[in-house]
Amino acid sequence: MEPTPDDKFSFGLWTVGWPARDPFGDATRPPLDPVETVHRLAALGAYGVTFHDDDLVPFGSDDDARTKVVARFREALDATGLVVPMATTNLFTHPVFKDGAFTSNDRDVRRYALRKVMRNLDLAAELGARTYVFWGGREGAESPAGKDVRAALDRYREAIDTLAAYVVDRGYGIRFALEPKPNEPRGDILLPTIGHALAFVASLEHRDRVGLNPEVGHEQMTGLNFVHGIAQVLWHGKLFHIDLNGQRGVRFDQDLVFGHGDLLDAFALVDLLEHGGPGGGPAYDGPRHFDYKPRRTEDLAGVWESAAANMRTYLLLRERARAFRADPEVQEALAACRTAELATPTLADGETVDDLLADRSALEDFDVDAAGERGYGYSRLDQLMVEHALGAR
Ligand code: GCO
Ligand code: MN
Ligand code: MN
Repeated sequence: MEPTPDDKFSFGLWTVGWPARDPFGDATRPPLDPVETVHRLAALGAYGVTFHDDDLVPFGSDDDARTKVVARFREALDATGLVVPMATTNLFTHPVFKDGAFTSNDRDVRRYALRKVMRNLDLAAELGARTYVFWGGREGAESPAGKDVRAALDRYREAIDTLAAYVVDRGYGIRFALEPKPNEPRGDILLPTIGHALAFVASLEHRDRVGLNPEVGHEQMTGLNFVHGIAQVLWHGKLFHIDLNGQRGVRFDQDLVFGHGDLLDAFALVDLLEHGGPGGGPAYDGPRHFDYKPRRTEDLAGVWESAAANMRTYLLLRERARAFRADPEVQEALAACRTAELATPTLADGETVDDLLADRSALEDFDVDAAGERGYGYSRLDQLMVEHALGAR
């Protein structure tokens, strides 16, 4: 089971390239050359590579250095056939962003942030990216009174709408994807969950161009059900991109290999992405982007081992989900759960409230006790899922 570019697996330069510096310890690995990363990822069967501006062009580079870096990167892309489906901006590392970028209290910082994004949007468009991610890691606060959250949301909206207008004006075929996260590095980050982000998108002038880039671990950090979150994002037509990784429960952002956190959730997620669409087909056809960090305990060989593990786990789960859906016993169990019945509208076609009031079978003659006694049989279905996930069927 080897990944191929048709599987649309992509990785950020910052994922495999993480030198494993953490708040308590130094880097355990040397930095990676983006060109080498492109070649390695292509050899492993990936189709795409993504980057923050500063992952590719080191912060503070002059125009000459920038041109050279981009030319070398482009050569590697051409040589390997790897594409750049998405790009993003580093608005969190430099001390200038310590109080946020689009929502810093300092207006000069906000104007600088907009320009930094615009510069990288030009490069993203040049390299053919279709999605631009906004992860507002520093857009947040620790001080309850020091940050006016409503004013910050005004400025956040102003930034996204201004940048969307820029993309429209330049004729770039780029859509925006906002990435929620509850905390880390800020004590509290704005747009902390999928739900907050969806509500924010609805308030934008350019709402049609803006969707979400949810990350598995970011919802799980708060104990939320990621698969339900993705289902709702799909329901709103807003799944523009996805960050796959693993997380074990409510704690710091672990960014584990996909499937190395909650495996059953990963199974259900792949099942949804691959079979949640019309007629049981895919519900999402964008990049399967891994935003993970090779553990600090890995050496360089372990970095590439872990990169391959993300893709292999996805493919195994895809194969297992296919077997699950095709199993006649699963279909029978689903029928017993009456899962499909939920798609039937509660009122009949053309039925009015008066018709409902006149329907004695809905209330007066409805046998609530019998309905209350009837089981739904979800346990049998769940066990079948576990058995498929374990390869026991
Ligand atoms: C995280 C985030 C980041 C962002 C990335 C894109 O783990 O906190 O996922 O990795 O996705 O920086 O801006
Ligand atoms: Mn993360
Ligand atoms: Mn992410």
